[in-house]
Amino acid sequence: MATERLIAPQAQQPEEEQTNWALRPTQIAEYIGQPDLIERLRIAIQAGKSRQDPLEHILLHGPPGLGKTTLAHVIANEMGSRIYTTSGPALARGTDLVAALTRLQQGDVLFIDEIHRLPVAVEEFIYPAMEDFRIDVTVDSGLNARTVQIRCKPFTLIGATTRAGLLSSPLRSRFGLIHHLKYYSTADLLIILRRSCGLLGVGVDNEQALEAIAARSRGTPRIANRLLRRVRDFAQVKAAGRVEPKVVDAALMLEGVDQLGLDELDRTYLRIIGATYDGGPVGLETVAATMNEDSQTIEDVVEPYLLQIGFLARTRRGRALTKAACEHLGLKYTVKDQDQSDLF
Ligand code: ADE
Repeated sequence: MATERLIAPQAQQPEEEQTNWALRPTQIAEYIGQPDLIERLRIAIQAGKSRQDPLEHILLHGPPGLGKTTLAHVIANEMGSRIYTTSGPALARGTDLVAALTRLQQGDVLFIDEIHRLPVAVEEFIYPAMEDFRIDVTVDSGLNARTVQIRCKPFTLIGATTRAGLLSSPLRSRFGLIHHLKYYSTADLLIILRRSCGLLGVGVDNEQALEAIAARSRGTPRIANRLLRRVRDFAQVKAAGRVEPKVVDAALMLEGVDQLGLDELDRTYLRIIGATYDGGPVGLETVAATMNEDSQTIEDVVEPYLLQIGFLARTRRGRALTKAACEHLGLKYTVKDQDQSDLF
């Protein structure tokens, strides 16, 4: 399955989640990357603490694996608050939300992952809770129907989503701080990898080996740490524990991950557009059918990174390969008589 790829940005087995926890930063000072967001948070946290107010509600959006959950924990930790974690789909009914909100103490953080999947009926309950820390519940029915107000303690809602566009604007507008997390630079991933080596006890005296891992990590710390663990195992078994660039190459080639961090699924997708459809433009549904994959999966897990590295163009007439993609795959690039206004 596409989400079980070595370079999938989603967390995989529970054991991986455990190792991830051990590698996560717990304080803002340890957090690497996302400098604009960190600066905004530092200010909000310091101001909130000095006024003894809970933080404003925060919405974090961006691709998976960039540390939205980690950040929520860092924020709660810095505020000296407790954090309760739930997700949009887990809050199926209004009563689930009431249960979550009424156990919060002053200043606690409620983290709702995948907040774009919050059912519409539950969303209605959340508005007064976010604005006035009260929940309006309708009891009885028909002519006897009344609204009862339940108060909750002032809290901070941190919402995370990979699909900010799916959030309704009334919900969006109730967040005080909204921030988009960006892919990490190779330099930042390198710092994260060095830190992880220290925490995992991996001795790496070859900086280029870590650079090679960072370059294959698709701008995503979770992938960087996963690749590091694979390289560590490979080095231990095949290279007397030496983590060197050629060991990184061999370890990750064995897993089908190339120098840019593309795997077989990415290459199949690109080759189908390149070879079968002459470089495109071709409709997503057509490519998905040729690959025998679900088009939504392709759109969510394959295309974002290919768009990010400039290998793919989304045009009105469909997907097309760029020159860089053709060069990477060793395919001939044919300039299409394509109106640039097609690009969006
Ligand atoms: N581990 C995973 N993500 C990290 C980050 N942003 N900073 C430090 N360590 C990390």
